[in-house]
Amino acid sequence: MRMTLLLLCPLLLAGCGGTPSSSMQTPTSTPASSIGPSAHSESSGESTTLVAYFSVTNNTKKLAEYASRHLESELFEIVPKQVYTQEDINYNGDCRANREQNDDSSRPEILNQIADISKYDTIVLGYPIWWGQAPKIMYSFVEAYDLKGKTILPFCTSGSSPIGTSATNLAKSAPEANWLTGERFAASASYSDIANWLDANLTKETTMKLTIDGKPQNVTWAENESVKALKSIATNGLTIKMEEYGGFEQTGPIGQSIVRDDKNIDVEPGDIVLYAGNQISVFYKAHAWSYTRLGHINASQSELENALKKDSIEFVLSEK
Ligand SMILES: Cc1cc2nc3c(=O)[nH]c(=O)nc-3n(C[C@H](O)[C@H](O)[C@H](O)COP(=O)(O)O)c2cc1C
Repeated sequence: MRMTLLLLCPLLLAGCGGTPSSSMQTPTSTPASSIGPSAHSESSGESTTLVAYFSVTNNTKKLAEYASRHLESELFEIVPKQVYTQEDINYNGDCRANREQNDDSSRPEILNQIADISKYDTIVLGYPIWWGQAPKIMYSFVEAYDLKGKTILPFCTSGSSPIGTSATNLAKSAPEANWLTGERFAASASYSDIANWLDANLTKETTMKLTIDGKPQNVTWAENESVKALKSIATNGLTIKMEEYGGFEQTGPIGQSIVRDDKNIDVEPGDIVLYAGNQISVFYKAHAWSYTRLGHINASQSELENALKKDSIEFVLSEK
């Protein structure tokens, strides 16, 4: 659908920290380094959340920096191969940005890339609204990576438009990711606006990390006392050597007993349960027994079998 200039009167851009032309800046990232870790992530080296953003006039950039600071996560600027000049975003005429937004096949090239996307399980994704939608370079970005199973929390800045269909349309280009409902912010949004929004939207399931034989897993954790107890143990890291049992599960000792609420349940492939209060079992085939549910690995049957159908595994929990 073509957009009309009616959408974009100068008033609409009021309050966005200056019109594009007045605050135009050239992105300053050094492409060679791809990821610029925040001071904290440099020291911890364990971040599994990434804040990635595209920004031409730095409104989105500022909020992305707030997000990265609050989450203590790495920050990645999506740098276009061909930098957007002031003329390119002069939306009142036939500018490059308008032409791209009107062209479904447009995929502006990105100069830099994320070296290892697999280490992130959550991506906070920021962009400016261009004609009600995400800039086409955002499509180039999401289509460039395997985002399967990753949680994506989108946000945008705009003069006044809501996030609208911009994120749901972008999600169509990476349908295997878990897209959370996005949010629009004014350029004037404060650090605490961003921090509160992140706290409300990135729930606890992203705060305990599971790796199996070194590979990060996308897990939805149950909300119960047993998971709380496990999270507190995982703060210091918990490595469980698991062994295959019965042709349907991997199981191993926690090393201590934790609170349990066992019930006779049917477990599905991918389920993680507490057994007898002091062991964890993770299933690649269905089973039924008395357990306390802990969580579920969001993966296909073949991925589960690849990860679990073997003599033994190393099951590691850590807290971010
Ligand atoms: C080509 C273009 C189209 C835009 N379209 C809209 C729009 O539809 N609605 C709106 O509220 N703001 C629109 N804006 C304003 C930007 O969304 C806003 O200034 C944004 O905060 C810029 O982010 P940035 O500084 O990170 O690049 C547009 C700006 C440009 C350059």
